[in-house]
Amino acid sequence: MSVYESAVRPLLFRLDPERAHNLTLAASELGGRSSLVRRAAGRAFTVRDPRLETSLAGIPLANPLGLAAGFDKNARAVRMLGALGFGHLEIGSVSADASDGNPKPRLFRVPQDEAIVVAYGVPNEGAHAVRERLSGPRRVPVGINLVKTNDPAKPAAGPEVYEDYAASFAVLQDRADYVALNLSCPNSAADRDFFDELPRIDALLSRLAQEDVRRPLILKLKPTRDAGVLREIVAIADGHPFVSGFAINLPSGKPADLNLTVARDSLDRMPGAVGGPPVEAFVNAILGTLKSITGDRYDLIAAGGVASAEAAYTKLQLGATVVQLYTGLIYHGPGLVKEILTGLLARA
Ligand SMILES: Cc1cc2nc3c(=O)[nH]c(=O)nc-3n(C[C@H](O)[C@H](O)[C@H](O)COP(=O)(O)O)c2cc1C
Repeated sequence: MSVYESAVRPLLFRLDPERAHNLTLAASELGGRSSLVRRAAGRAFTVRDPRLETSLAGIPLANPLGLAAGFDKNARAVRMLGALGFGHLEIGSVSADASDGNPKPRLFRVPQDEAIVVAYGVPNEGAHAVRERLSGPRRVPVGINLVKTNDPAKPAAGPEVYEDYAASFAVLQDRADYVALNLSCPNSAADRDFFDELPRIDALLSRLAQEDVRRPLILKLKPTRDAGVLREIVAIADGHPFVSGFAINLPSGKPADLNLTVARDSLDRMPGAVGGPPVEAFVNAILGTLKSITGDRYDLIAAGGVASAEAAYTKLQLGATVVQLYTGLIYHGPGLVKEILTGLLARA
């Protein structure tokens, strides 16, 4: 058991999950200001080995394990997170305008399944605030994940959605090594189905093309097992050469085939999407289908239940270019990054 698991986690788990997260982020932000702390973290957590090196959308990476979007929505802790051994970080989701997200409580732990239920609704400080924070040098490549501003008074309806993405894209693309477009936040109830009409993805990409796209784009898709839909999305991407790859978001709600042991009625008291090991098989099935469609034409970012080297390895074997994690950090702490990378090396 790591120090995190035996000493830190019990304290954090006594707190409300969102408060625990905010404290962790504040501590990381503070620690990251000290070069001494960053160096110590780098020594403790980093695994360097040429066999781990890879690339994503043409960006060289020290290893294939990244931090998933949602952990550091506002780029507060990039300096510290960059010292934890990740090969890349994905910041966001960020929207053009700041948003408060959904009412609280909106984050729940399911310890018996090492899962999290999230209903944040993409609260964030907006593109300009994040741009300011990302002005300094950084240790690892940073992707920025963009989403439409969540404003219940202005649900996604028409072309203003494209304008919202275009606005955040214009502000942030120069701060990013890649830009991920979150096309279905499972927790923005008013917006999450907008891109179910697939020609709208084409319309969004055509609108972004007017912005002089200088960074590779990744489309973070609503999960679907419908190979026909995935094929259609890939065909749309084929028309926009700046699209470099795809990622798969969490499913909204709680599909019956998630691997949960917690009783359904207690789960039903937690609104939101499930992250962590219960979604692993669900996401992996879609990853396999997507890979069979894209072949090697596109890069794939895979997240969903990566809490062990075995889980990361499985996704890489299924065709992921890189894997990302979030929920695993909550249950296992930062040592998980090194544990996974060491485990991948053992399988190399
Ligand atoms: C608390 C929480 C907040 C998240 N916020 C975002 C977000 O803002 N944008 C996004 O694209 N994905 C978000 N995600 C999804 C993660 O990026 C990732 O795809 C998902 O959690 C699966 O990985 P995991 O099982 O390792 O958590 C969030 C996930 C969690 C648990």
